[in-house]
Amino acid sequence: MITYRTFRGSDIESIFENLAQLRITVFRDYPYLYEGTLDYERAYLQTYSNAERAFVFTVFDDEKLVGATTCIPLEDETLEVKKPFLEANLNIERIFYFGESILLKEYRGLGLGNRFFEERENHAKRFGTFDVVCFCAVQRENNHPLKPKDYRALDDFWIKKGYKKQINLESSFEWLDIGEPKPTNKPMIYWMKNI
Ligand SMILES: CC(C)(COP(=O)(O)OP(=O)(O)OC[C@H]1O[C@@H](n2cnc3c(N)ncnc32)[C@H](O)[C@@H]1OP(=O)(O)O)[C@@H](O)C(=O)NCCC(=O)NCCS
Repeated sequence: MITYRTFRGSDIESIFENLAQLRITVFRDYPYLYEGTLDYERAYLQTYSNAERAFVFTVFDDEKLVGATTCIPLEDETLEVKKPFLEANLNIERIFYFGESILLKEYRGLGLGNRFFEERENHAKRFGTFDVVCFCAVQRENNHPLKPKDYRALDDFWIKKGYKKQINLESSFEWLDIGEPKPTNKPMIYWMKNI
């Protein structure tokens, strides 16, 4: 049976292992190609469990975590996430940042991706102190050798949800790509929407 469970702040720690495993599984695919490690995951998820206003919406199939989406006030994020906003002199206290939306393949195309946006936007709106929501997406070169032939970018979905690509807001996150000897920096472009 499918159930939805929400976690806030320090409660997020209780699903750390499951969430880390789900992120590693889903982000192994193009365009992320992430060779996940539990150390990287621990540091990443710690930022969320340290933030009182962070929120994770999850999908369970019986006791198995099959999907999750995360968000956090931008001011509680790491410097690499905040940097382009600070450099552009934007008021980060008014911005809510969306971490990821991840579903195992068998659970895609059922409307859960839409639900993930609604849940996060509603969470951010409830505080009454945020007027912008944002997320970022990795930029891979168009002819990347590991890009599947049937790959469909999510850009149209994000545009339909009201998000606009901000080509002047770019950050750089470091992770290990599958099959590579050492971690490299990836360009990340932000998308924003007023709420
Ligand atoms: C992003 C993700 C959570 C969306 O989940 P989903 O359950 O497929 O979402 P929905 O069923 O609500 O569909 C969302 C939209 O994506 C579109 N879509 C469906 N399959 C798609 C595909 N393979 N590629 C691109 N877009 C697709 C649909 O047209 C739909 O738009 P609509 O609402 O106008 O019909 C899921 O695809 C996923 O886990 N992807 C891998 C991880 C990822 O890239 N996450 C996003 C960045 S963190």
